This record gives sequence, structure tokens and C-alpha cells, in this order.
Amino acid sequence: MASHAPVMVAQVLEHLAPSRGGLFVDCTVGLGGHARAILDAGASNLIGLDRDPAAVAMARESLAEFGPRVELIHGDYRRFAEVLDARGIGSVDGILVDLGVSSMQLDEPGRGFSFRRDEPLDMRMDTTTGATAAEAIRNADERTLADVIFEFGEERHSRRIARALAAAGGTIETTGRLADVVRRAIPRKGYSRIDPATRTFQAIRIWVNRELEGLDVFLAAAAGRLNPGGRLVAITFHSLEDRIVKHTLRSLQAAGTGLTVRTKRPVVPDDLEVERNPRARSAKLRAAEAAEVDG
Ligand SMILES: C[S@@+](CC[C@H](N)C(=O)[O-])C[C@H]1O[C@@H](n2cnc3c(N)ncnc32)[C@H](O)[C@@H]1O
Repeated sequence: MASHAPVMVAQVLEHLAPSRGGLFVDCTVGLGGHARAILDAGASNLIGLDRDPAAVAMARESLAEFGPRVELIHGDYRRFAEVLDARGIGSVDGILVDLGVSSMQLDEPGRGFSFRRDEPLDMRMDTTTGATAAEAIRNADERTLADVIFEFGEERHSRRIARALAAAGGTIETTGRLADVVRRAIPRKGYSRIDPATRTFQAIRIWVNRELEGLDVFLAAAAGRLNPGGRLVAITFHSLEDRIVKHTLRSLQAAGTGLTVRTKRPVVPDDLEVERNPRARSAKLRAAEAAEVDG
């Protein structure tokens, strides 16, 4: 089974405070690493959501020992309120969202997220719906591709890359071919440790999965469903997401919703964790707390 080291577990537990007991929702349950820690630390019950059916299946196995304390659901966290409503749950004690892709999604063959392996260019987290990356690229015009690569990849060669992708005219069916077209489109300047295709792969992945869409609406909905003293923790892996989390939490606090931001600065992993788990390198955690007393 694929492994996935959950990031900043100690910091998640500190801010989520599951030792209080109660109902917690892990909105991106992945392989269940954080969920296990939350349950072990004292949460009475946990609902785990993931839009990737393969992740839900793995979490079901890895969390089986917790029996009826855990409910796992294949779904998008943007449907968070509906999920609670369908179960007659008004509010919960803690909510975690750990964004981005899991190492399982990056490393398992056949998912098409990584240029480290040549395979069909899929990149969908939810494999049951939506266009694959190959289809999305084929159906987009050059301008759209340039905007996507610039905005979501923060790639300064976005126009050149988009031109090359458009010129390749629907022949980009594999990760290897995408990486090849991108690498050829970028002027080579000396040696870099980072593959020139990295930013474009990130951009296409964020675009195909609409990763930034509705994150602010979700955070507001989540904050509105916390019990008094309930906690919300969000972990991001790139600056675009972190910016949305930072601004949304701050504006919820400023709007007098009773939410208080617990993290003036983002919490980051220590050097030891980054050394052990390089994926943690870009992680940033922000947390907020609902007022102790309603109103
Ligand atoms: C970084 S991993 C989470 C790892 C998890 N915390 C663990 O301990 O194993 C991110 C997960 O979020 C899921 N995901 C991303 N966007 C989602 C969304 N909008 N709704 C539900 N799940 C999502 C991905 O499928 C992936 O499994």
C-alpha cells in the first residue's frame, strides 16, 4: 500500500485540540494519516471526505480499526455543508483541510500527475468526473493555456509554453510528451535542480482540478459550522492557496463572525521534518477558533 507521511501532525493536534473529544471532519482524508492522529488523540468521531475514490478506499482500510467512530465519504469538501445537512449535523468541534495532492496520487502509476513516469496525462483527483488534463489541453486555446500556466504555475515563460502546446495540436496525450514540449519551449540557462516542466505540471493540475475555486466559500461555510470553541485548521502547499486561506480567515474575523485567527504567521514544519519528508517543505498551516460562547 502507498504510504503518505502526514505533515505537521503535532501542530495539527495543537491547533485542532481533539483531546477535547467531539466530532471532527477531515475534509481531505487522503490515506488517513491525520485522521488516525486525531482519533488517537481523543476525537470521539470523525467524518473523512476525499474527492479521490482511491484515497477513500485506502483510508477505509487504514482506519478500519476505529470501526463506527469513523465515516468515510467520497466527496468534494466544497459540498461540506450538504454532507453535514444530509446527516442532520448542525455543527462540529473541528475541521481540517490539508490541500493539494497526496504522495499516493503523485507516486501511484496510472494517475498521470508526474513527469517522473511516462503515462496517460490524466491528473484528475476525482477519477469519476470531469476532463482529463490531456482533454483540457486539447480543448483550450493558446490564450487560456498561457493564463493558466502564468497564474497557477507562476511561470514567466507561460506564453512560449502555451504557444508550443497549441502548436502540438492535440498530440499531448502523455506526461512524457507534455514534459518534453515544455522543456523544449523554455530557454535553457545553466543547470537547475528543478525540472523546467515542474511549474507547468503544477499549473495544469490546479486548473484541471479547479483547486482554488470555492476555497474561500468553503472556509466561510466551515467556520459557520463550528461549535463554540471549535477549531479550523488549513494546510496549504503553495502561495496561491495560502493567500486565499490567510485573507479569508482574516476577513471572517474582521466581519465579527466570532472567529479568531490563532496563527498570526503561518506555522511551518521544522528542519527535521523537512529533511525526513521533503513534501513538507512548502507546507503552511493556519488555524482559527470559534468564539467560546455563541453570539
Ligand atoms: C495532501 S493530501 C491529504 C493527506 C491526508 N491529510 C493524510 O494524512 O493522508 C490531499 C488530499 O486532498 C484531496 N482533495 C483535494 N481537493 C479536494 C476537494 N476539493 N475535496 C475533497 N478532497 C480533496 C486529494 O484527493 C488528496 O487525497
